[in-house]
Amino acid sequence: MKEGQKMLSADSVQVAVRVRPFNQMEKDAGSCCIISMVLNSITVCHPRNRNNTKTFLFDLSYWSHNGFIKNKEGILIPDGPASKYADQKRVFDDLGQEMLNNAWKGYNATLLAYGQTGSGKSYSMIGYGPDRGIIPLTCDGLFKIIHQNQEPDKQYQIYFSMLEIYNEKVVDLLAKSKQPRDLKVRESPQRGFYVENQMLVPCESYEQIQQLLKEGNTKRITRSTSVNAVSSRSHLITTIRFKQVFLKDHLTKQSDINLVDLAGSERQKSSGSEGDRLREGTAINLSLTTLGNVISALAEIAMGRRMLHVPYRNSTLTKLLQSALGGNSKTRMIATVSPADICYEETLSTLRYAERTKNIQNKAVINENPTERLILELRAENAKLRSTITKIRNAGLRVEEEMKELRQSLAENERQMAEIQTSWEEQLEKAQQEWEQKYKTLTQERRMIQMFPYLVNVNVDPQLSGFVHLFIQDGETVIGQSARFPQAIVIKGFGVADKHAIITNLDNKVTLEPCGQAKLILNGALLLTKVPLKHLDRLILGSNSTYLYVGFPCERNGEDMSKYDYDFFQSELAAVEGFDRDALGLSNRNKKVDPSVLAVFLDYIRVKPLVAEANQISEELSKDLKFELEVKNLALTDSRGHDLVKEVIVKVTNKTTHQVWVWSKAKFVNRKFIMEDIYQHFIDGETISLDRESDPFWDPIDAVHLGTAYVWLQSLNYCIPLEEHVEFHNSQGEEEAVLQMNLVPCTPTGQPLSEDEILIDPTEMVGQRLDFQVQIKQCLGIRWLKQNSMRGIQIQYHVLNHPCPFCTKPIWNTVNARIDQVMQFTVKSVSEELLNYLQYHALVLDLWGLQVTVLCDQHVGQCQIKITGLYFGLRFIGFTCCEEDCTEISSPLDDIELTDEGSIIIDYVRPQLPSTVEIDDDQLSELYIKLSKLEQEIELLRDVNRTLRKDNVSIKSALRKMSDAPRSDEKSFHRKNAEAFGSKGTPKASYEVDFAKALKTFYQSMNRVRNQLLGLRRHRPPGDDDVETLRLYLDNQTRIIRDFGDSLELCMNTLKNDVSLIVKKKKGHNLWGSVTE
Ligand SMILES: Nc1ncnc2c1ncn2[C@@H]1O[C@H](COP(=O)(O)OP(=O)(O)OP(=O)(O)O)[C@@H](O)[C@H]1O
Ligand SMILES: [Mg+2]
Repeated sequence: MKEGQKMLSADSVQVAVRVRPFNQMEKDAGSCCIISMVLNSITVCHPRNRNNTKTFLFDLSYWSHNGFIKNKEGILIPDGPASKYADQKRVFDDLGQEMLNNAWKGYNATLLAYGQTGSGKSYSMIGYGPDRGIIPLTCDGLFKIIHQNQEPDKQYQIYFSMLEIYNEKVVDLLAKSKQPRDLKVRESPQRGFYVENQMLVPCESYEQIQQLLKEGNTKRITRSTSVNAVSSRSHLITTIRFKQVFLKDHLTKQSDINLVDLAGSERQKSSGSEGDRLREGTAINLSLTTLGNVISALAEIAMGRRMLHVPYRNSTLTKLLQSALGGNSKTRMIATVSPADICYEETLSTLRYAERTKNIQNKAVINENPTERLILELRAENAKLRSTITKIRNAGLRVEEEMKELRQSLAENERQMAEIQTSWEEQLEKAQQEWEQKYKTLTQERRMIQMFPYLVNVNVDPQLSGFVHLFIQDGETVIGQSARFPQAIVIKGFGVADKHAIITNLDNKVTLEPCGQAKLILNGALLLTKVPLKHLDRLILGSNSTYLYVGFPCERNGEDMSKYDYDFFQSELAAVEGFDRDALGLSNRNKKVDPSVLAVFLDYIRVKPLVAEANQISEELSKDLKFELEVKNLALTDSRGHDLVKEVIVKVTNKTTHQVWVWSKAKFVNRKFIMEDIYQHFIDGETISLDRESDPFWDPIDAVHLGTAYVWLQSLNYCIPLEEHVEFHNSQGEEEAVLQMNLVPCTPTGQPLSEDEILIDPTEMVGQRLDFQVQIKQCLGIRWLKQNSMRGIQIQYHVLNHPCPFCTKPIWNTVNARIDQVMQFTVKSVSEELLNYLQYHALVLDLWGLQVTVLCDQHVGQCQIKITGLYFGLRFIGFTCCEEDCTEISSPLDDIELTDEGSIIIDYVRPQLPSTVEIDDDQLSELYIKLSKLEQEIELLRDVNRTLRKDNVSIKSALRKMSDAPRSDEKSFHRKNAEAFGSKGTPKASYEVDFAKALKTFYQSMNRVRNQLLGLRRHRPPGDDDVETLRLYLDNQTRIIRDFGDSLELCMNTLKNDVSLIVKKKKGHNLWGSVTE
């Protein structure tokens, strides 16, 4: 133990949890609260299964979800004595006050705020408007204590610092320069890790700290071109250094209070680069991931399980938090969570993280005489550095880099010593001049707010909104990147031109006009002409610079401007582009909103601006790529017709070669992050040379999923051949191509079954062999090829639940592809489960788009694409190998078993729960829900089955009675028993054949009707309000409904006629039979 430090017993990290109110989006969607709190125990229930709950116990818990009102000052307080609402003061009274007590004693204190984006970390740490958070309240509290404890021989010194870690780089937010540089993290044996040249601003009052917080936040907004993407991915470390100097005793007590607002925790996952070739290329998650690893290792050590290496060194954040986590600090964590069902996963993961943190043990010490000690240590360190430098020089070694480092460390130590030795009074005097300048600016800004209309920034992080005020003075002002115009408003941002727009303030009216091709969006719509601006109009300049227009003071009515947040801007933009809550069925108030659909909507409006930025970067770096945001599976279903999970994807198109890639959201976010990094180097004037392997804009080409078609399998249950014309629809429900195919029940040798073998009761097949062919004839009107003829297609499908997908051979360069491929499948023994499956499932066929990598000349399609396929029996598909210049899909051959006739065996296997895979509680509960749903469905199916059987029995007996019994020994109806059907002069068999024929006709026409119905369902109204388009849509819709009605009518009539003919025939026969008798 070092001199002057008093060792205390181990102190475990205490953890508090806070639940915030619903945000607007959650309220609009009718979200449910899934969290409850009793004392310090927190219970989270599964959104779809309220009985599945998880309970956690923490040191402190804060219910800030409901039971509050706004008081006169605009502060949220409990709405009555019975309310359990925990306001900012209560949180401060526990956490902040304790930190102050510890600081007073000379302990270092750390508070970490952890939680997903938008969960309330910054609300708790910094606060919003009058709802001040822990940082301002702690500073205020500290100055109050100082004023109450003035002593003649005691001096109090307070320093304030703000650092931001983004992409592993440290930026000092209080640095004097307008564009702060990245700072170096150094390590010294005595002090551990520290930031070189970190600004510690001496402060005398709480107002100064308020001003510094504002200054730091403004720097966060303006320091990057990608302003809106940064904040929730960066970590903010605010430090209050509090020194108590006991002048008479020559004693100093020092405490560093570190308040850390961590990056949104879900960034770990959603911007994770799973599956991306460039996953190593980004350090975006490194700090948060490493923090998790450090916490886990420390928790393990504390529980005495293992002695682990603690990976502090792996990230900048953990280096700077080393003593807070595993050493000299009294550390607390506040884990913030959203109450909404949509955030279930994130909430659980936050609580689990917090639970692990609880176990960490620290050993805080009272820091006495740190200044003297530090000077001694710095001196000793410098002596060592000098001797190392001399040794290297004497040895004549030429290690330039190392020498440079050593000299820099020496200089930094000397700078620190000089700073320490400067008296507090001197430091304050120096800071005073800067304060005066800052106050002048602040007062001027306040005055201008009362005089002029202005634009105020709206950031993705509400904490950073409202910091930039751009005043619109009288006359004409140019808005853009350039400051060279006589009256200019400078906005730096993606896609903002030097002269982007002109804003005119004349006769108390403000107008806005875009310049040239500049992209300017007003209230969601692209602006092309000069328009008057109205109070609270929303502006987006370039890709994503978002501002709210605040009119003249006389136009302001004290409105709540917080309503116009970033999500409001983006929702408005998405709605104008036709993607809104209606498109996802989110606006139906009577229907419970599916949380996963709401999540897609949120993803969409959050990723949309990033896509705009990626397009801008691509353009500026001449990458020739177009990025488009889409929702995967928006209009697609699974083989049962149930909606597929929807997710946001990004379609990337090379504008010259027309090659297409589809990126997952995670991959796009990862790539976008690397693009930003490259772009930053580009605007810094560096030359960028990237090889393919590290180029975020490059990827090898792959087959692209174009659309899906469904062919119902029910006809197989009745041994009815099916001829289909079905459309391939893409994710958005648009037609991509038309497929002509047949589904034909057949004999083992591939002969089609005769009409006589159509079944009335499918259960007669149980235990028998079933053979059928999938005959894919042609694919017509392929849009993928209409767009570019240098492309190809392949069709892939799964049969029943056979693991191996089957695919057709690739066809290139034709809009109407003749495929003519026949595959035969055999089920060796039909089970009841299979019959149920066939009854309710469709064969799902996926259309894949093939493309070529290199386009050398115009004949590429003919001369370069050489398909080296392996054909599997004459009637089967070709399993193609990937050719170097093109990408094709192939089917693995391993799992295929054949019959003697060469047909593929696809015995239906009832899906089973994996027994060896480890399933966590959540998955298990999901599975239980699915299982119970399935069981209900099976019960339902059993009922249907029972009724059908009863009907069958009565139909059979009626048939038997009708045919009377001229031959009582006649064999029962069986499809395998051909003689019975075919025996001449057997009237019964002939009625049954007639009946089967009628059934087949009915079935086939009903199938067409079903396709019409599906088409009707997919026929969506157009996105725009254009009356002509709407009229066209309506006419079309009316026509489809009429056709649908006509077809249905026709089907029913045909069946009625056919059946009445059979009945008449039968009656005639009976009559005739009885006459002859
Ligand atoms: N306890 C609370 N009471 C009232 N409103 C809250 C509370 N917590 C959060 N909010 C509101 O929720 C929104 C998001 O909160 P906040 O900015 O603190 O999230 P965050 O966790 O810091 O997100 P990010 O990771 O993006 O920085 C804000 O509008 C804030 O006012
Ligand atoms: Mg925040």
